[in-house]
Amino acid sequence: MGRRTILLDEDEVPKSWYNVLPDLPKKLPPPIDPATREPVPPSKLEALFPKEVVKQEVSSDRWVPIPEELREVYLMWRPTPLIRARRLEERLKTPARIYYKYEGVSPTGSHKPNTAVAQAYYAMREGVERLTTETGAGQWGSALAFSCDVFGLRSTIYMVKVSYHQKPYRRVLMELWGAEVIPSPSERTKFGREVLERDPDSPGSLGIAISEAIEDALTHDDAKYALGSVLNFVLTHQTVVGLEAKKQLELVDEYPDYVVGCVGGGSNFGGLFLPFYHDVAAGRASGVRFVAAESTACPSLTKGIYLYDYGDTAKLTPLLAMYTLGHDFIPAPIHAGGLRYHGAAPILSLLVSEGVVESVAYDQVSVFEAARLFARTEGIVPAPESAHAVKAVVDIALRARERGEEVTILFNLSGHGLLDLKAYEEFLSGKLKPYHYPREEVERNIGKLMAELKELGVPPPSQLTG
Ligand SMILES: Cc1ncc(COP(=O)(O)O)c(C=O)c1O
Repeated sequence: MGRRTILLDEDEVPKSWYNVLPDLPKKLPPPIDPATREPVPPSKLEALFPKEVVKQEVSSDRWVPIPEELREVYLMWRPTPLIRARRLEERLKTPARIYYKYEGVSPTGSHKPNTAVAQAYYAMREGVERLTTETGAGQWGSALAFSCDVFGLRSTIYMVKVSYHQKPYRRVLMELWGAEVIPSPSERTKFGREVLERDPDSPGSLGIAISEAIEDALTHDDAKYALGSVLNFVLTHQTVVGLEAKKQLELVDEYPDYVVGCVGGGSNFGGLFLPFYHDVAAGRASGVRFVAAESTACPSLTKGIYLYDYGDTAKLTPLLAMYTLGHDFIPAPIHAGGLRYHGAAPILSLLVSEGVVESVAYDQVSVFEAARLFARTEGIVPAPESAHAVKAVVDIALRARERGEEVTILFNLSGHGLLDLKAYEEFLSGKLKPYHYPREEVERNIGKLMAELKELGVPPPSQLTG
């Protein structure tokens, strides 16, 4: 019997992140300023983000050194373990070998601190005193609160109001790490006040919270904004996950046939698969299948269209080239809050449109069934988001059983679900219902977006790739 848990020494935590931009099959279509219809110059992004991360956003350097002071902070939870899911394999009676990279060992219980500490570090170096951000259920907010605390910054976190009241535990975590947590929409910002005037009982949404956090950063000199997914630099920071996993698989003489992750904005999946994609792009590997698992309640990759769209409801962000359901998409209240984003990372979107990455969608009941199987075999309770990857892996492993194929599957268990037990309670009591976002809704939103883009004169991304 081979090893179950594959660990690395501290000195094997990567010293550089991998930046995929120079290795993409086509040039990434640039973010577009809707006012000028021109690509957004990096200098404009500096109003919002620390200079160094803006540099990383557009960098053509394949390797980005991780500053030693930041790497020291990574050592608080990295390297994370790679675990062979033997008991799951046995239960499924599959000849497939299943490995998972477990990011739930971070202080906040998910992969999110991999980029949060980096963004807080660069902000601190550049004299920023405070970071603002939005959060839904609180995974990203708690990661940023922790990271700001590490580097002596203050944090202001706009938390979707309904979650603020219904999901208090991650709010408590954020406050424990010194954050100011504000239920959104709030009286703090002009946009929040407008929303409240129209609808004093607004439950809030991620789109509204993003707009508030951005407005706060843009209107205060001491603050910048931090983002937990979607942008290139976030995916770059997350490649520590895949770089470690590659070394760990080498130790047991394995290379994956499948690399699987769940997708909200695309950061944990990107972080895992991009270093393997690098091998493919360099001609060192072939035949690897990259599988993105999303929710049927928010099927950006499987039902959305590759277009330019805004990142938020208030249209404060530039237009990004991405698979989108339209910025007016109103998500159903499913439990995998971190997957409720209308778009997807531009890097991931390009690779999906080029056929490099395939996508699948699952409804929440089948996802929680897979999560229960995982908890009862491997012992770990997956975050509802990560459980989408578990479901995809179970399907691949069962197909391998039918075909008698000894494939190697690697997936990202991006977080644990110990603060999501309410969702598990609903699942166990049969209250959870499957939900598929209706195709007519997608068509309506996309139709509206296409009309807006036509009026603006913004072409489809396919005309802007090199
Ligand atoms: C545990 C976990 N996994 C996955 C996601 C989805 O985000 P991304 O696609 O950026 O990894 C989230 C988002 O909050 C999350 O909390």
